[in-house]
Amino acid sequence: MLFGTQRVNGAGHLEIGGCDTVKLVEEFGTPLYVLDEQQIRENCRRYLSALKSYYKGESQVVYAGKALLTMGVCRIIEQEGLWLDVSSGGELYTALKADFPPQRILMHGNNKSLEELSLALESGVGRIVVDNLYELELLDKLCREKGQTARILIRVTPGIDPHTHRFIEAGQVDTKFGLNIKNGDAMEGIRRALAMEGIQFLGVHCHIGSQLLRIGPLLKAARVMVEFLREVKESLGIELKELDLGGGLGIRYLPSHNPPTIEEFVRRLGSTLEKSLKENGLSRPFLFLEPGRSIVGEAGITLYRVGAIKEVTFNKNGKPFKKIYAMIDGGMSDNPRPLLYNAKYHAVVANKAGLKGEIHYTIAGKHCETDVLIWDVLLPPLEPGDILAVQSTGAYTYSMASNYNRLPRPAAVLVREGRAELFVKRESYEDLVRADIIPPHLSK
Ligand SMILES: Cc1ncc(COP(=O)(O)O)c(C=O)c1O
Repeated sequence: MLFGTQRVNGAGHLEIGGCDTVKLVEEFGTPLYVLDEQQIRENCRRYLSALKSYYKGESQVVYAGKALLTMGVCRIIEQEGLWLDVSSGGELYTALKADFPPQRILMHGNNKSLEELSLALESGVGRIVVDNLYELELLDKLCREKGQTARILIRVTPGIDPHTHRFIEAGQVDTKFGLNIKNGDAMEGIRRALAMEGIQFLGVHCHIGSQLLRIGPLLKAARVMVEFLREVKESLGIELKELDLGGGLGIRYLPSHNPPTIEEFVRRLGSTLEKSLKENGLSRPFLFLEPGRSIVGEAGITLYRVGAIKEVTFNKNGKPFKKIYAMIDGGMSDNPRPLLYNAKYHAVVANKAGLKGEIHYTIAGKHCETDVLIWDVLLPPLEPGDILAVQSTGAYTYSMASNYNRLPRPAAVLVREGRAELFVKRESYEDLVRADIIPPHLSK
């Protein structure tokens, strides 16, 4: 399983973006996040061109920054002509620091603070996606005080089970996100928004869940949303100008994963929308899609150094059993997803990429938890010092990283045409204590 520019080079090493991963490790150390810039750019272009081909109305792709957001990533997204979805003051600050055009920023969040809403208004973000009635009132009040109007979408829940992990589903009825269509909350939100002086209400948003390997639920959500647009027209006499269908397209973490391609997904979504809009007698709204994982996920690998290798023997169901743990120099602090929602990963031995898998290994991290990254992967025989490349780690790894056990967060490099550029510096021990304060009564 090799993605984008990944290949096995003449030395038998894994190469990405024209760079030998063994050399990357010599230069930048481990653990190391590596991102294939060309693949990210291609994915952006594929989304834009698929949307143009398969949806006849106006449209825009909004990259979901929660998947991976740094100032460098903002620049790539800006250059490729996408909009950016931010979901906290920190993400918004990052984008503004990178000079991302604020009018192309869409601000999310299910519990935005007054400070976050103020920053969004002051910086002139393109859209604020309002999650609930409390926020709607807060925003209206803030706008009136400032003499501004906010261009908003309202997040609604279409009541659809996305068939993904419980922690990344969001479109069902029982969810903390958005206003429910079925019980009338969504319509009530719109009614109130339309009457508010500080609010310019433009349309509705939904996001039903993430890592969807089958897109049936996404298509169903699109149909429910169009039906809701018709209900709004019938009840309130207005045709909504904008529709945002969120993100969710899954990626290949394992060779057995087979999600639709970007083109296939957008083609089926486009035809579902065209048909549904026609059936409901509506004109085409401006369409936003908000992919995150499917733009950066497969473009990333994480390189680790293998340390201790431990054979554990035990009896299982009365039979002798053996397991080999290979420990790496990172783990749940640089990638919490396996522990958070049992996420699966595949790996390649970067310095032995040309060799066949022979032995089953369990890849474990170095934290004071059972932070197994991969429960079972077939690899060539491992030795301490080998470099393990875990694949498809571009999304929701660095952005979810922590300093658990006071591990400094890894560096991240962008690779392209044989060149590697640092885009996140490795944290130092000094960085770890930077925010610590010894209260006066504890001083020596
Ligand atoms: C509102 C919203 N939009 C977009 C996304 C991106 O989803 P994905 O990375 O699955 O494409 C998310 C992910 O949680 C989200 O919550």
